[in-house]
Amino acid sequence: MAARPRMMPGAEVPDSLSAKYTGSFAYFTVKDRLPQILTKAIDTVHRNMDTFFEQHGQEGVEAEKRAISLMSKLRNELQTDKPALPLTDGLPDTDLWNEYLDQQQARLDTGESPSWFKSPWLYMECYMYRRIQESLQLNPPMCDFDAFNEAKTQSFFASQQAVIAICTYFLEMKKKIECFKDTQLKTEFLLLMQVALWGNRCDLSISSGQDNSQKFNPLTSLESLKPSILVDDSEVVWELLINNKKNKTSKPTCTRIDIVLDNSGFELVTDLVLADFLITSQLADVIHFHGKSIPWFVSDTTKKDFDWTLKKMQAANQMQMSKSGVMWAKNVKQGIWVYHNHPFWTLPHEFCDMPLVADDLYAELQKSNLIFFKGDLNYRKLTGDRKWSYTVSFDTALRGFQPAPLCSLRTLKADIQVGLKPGQGEQLAVSDTEWMISGRYAIIQFSNPYQQ
Ligand code: F6P
Ligand code: MG
Repeated sequence: MAARPRMMPGAEVPDSLSAKYTGSFAYFTVKDRLPQILTKAIDTVHRNMDTFFEQHGQEGVEAEKRAISLMSKLRNELQTDKPALPLTDGLPDTDLWNEYLDQQQARLDTGESPSWFKSPWLYMECYMYRRIQESLQLNPPMCDFDAFNEAKTQSFFASQQAVIAICTYFLEMKKKIECFKDTQLKTEFLLLMQVALWGNRCDLSISSGQDNSQKFNPLTSLESLKPSILVDDSEVVWELLINNKKNKTSKPTCTRIDIVLDNSGFELVTDLVLADFLITSQLADVIHFHGKSIPWFVSDTTKKDFDWTLKKMQAANQMQMSKSGVMWAKNVKQGIWVYHNHPFWTLPHEFCDMPLVADDLYAELQKSNLIFFKGDLNYRKLTGDRKWSYTVSFDTALRGFQPAPLCSLRTLKADIQVGLKPGQGEQLAVSDTEWMISGRYAIIQFSNPYQQ
């Protein structure tokens, strides 16, 4: 098999970075994990045949069969390294995807077509999820079917004890929060930010859709996990927030924090608790959430998942869960929490392309005082998924993507990491060969365009 370029050939990065890279992990993901994910999705569609029949009669069953056949064809293309095909479903982002494919083609100087094993891993992984969507889109009434919905809802229920633990902790804290001095507020902020950080371990794409939920109280393990946070800029994030709050006393302004969400299930609940804390502590006045507009990387949050989670929390037969759910729904109703799902988040583009491809989203993010980017995929897109040396600064790797101060909360699941101390990455590689891909390590990494 030909070596896989890990980076986009011809991209505008310093010369030392433009070397090609064969990532054994990338190869493993494309070759083994993606077909497994597809097989599970096909199986889910198949198991829902009765529901399609009940809802849409024979038309539903026929649509389901055609969608399965397209998804099976996709799996075959993937396994046999066929060229990536243009999309044909005429959705608003179809042209952008097809232009991206043309660009990939133009960058290959070998005359070969972009294909599953030869093109950048990030692109092909995103492309698979978009092609699953196409299989459904071309077969109404299947357009709105989420083949990962079952896995996501199961994962939420499997994390219930951990959800109760974190909601109970937060509601107890909330009773006293008004009397907190800044030092106490800081301690609680750092704690909830770490809960949201480690919540990112619970994604279903790394486990190919198998249960990967949080089973125990996350608060009990935070201390022992601290050494596994390889970059910890949380102090700087805190300084930014508390200074914003202090400045408000002299000049009233609205502090806006954005959270670019990742996985639904336990991770989403940890994000919502953090968001609730930011509002309750008056560190923020409004929170803007950003989710995916189509089912993505198995467990990523869509609007349906977000609404479903709030509903399930409200309806829970457990006081702390339902209380939290009721407050969160109220935040949405009052416009204190705002949900967006821009199609850019489900394009293959790295984030430095955002001003060109989605200037409206970039302008929206520029209104933020702080943007949290949750998870591994967001980190790959922030840094362009390049083979940067471990010690390159985060600011450099962002290549101009700096709409506002931003902070990545990510557990490491892909072989990319920047901003480490000299020798740190090499040492980790000796002690743990899977340090970059296991989710056992994490980073809280910050960049501020106003302080460079
Ligand atoms: O590890 C497989 C993988 O699909 C990566 O390609 C991807 O970056 C990650 O999982 C998704 O993780 P997260 O949910 O944290 O973005
Ligand atoms: Mg995810």
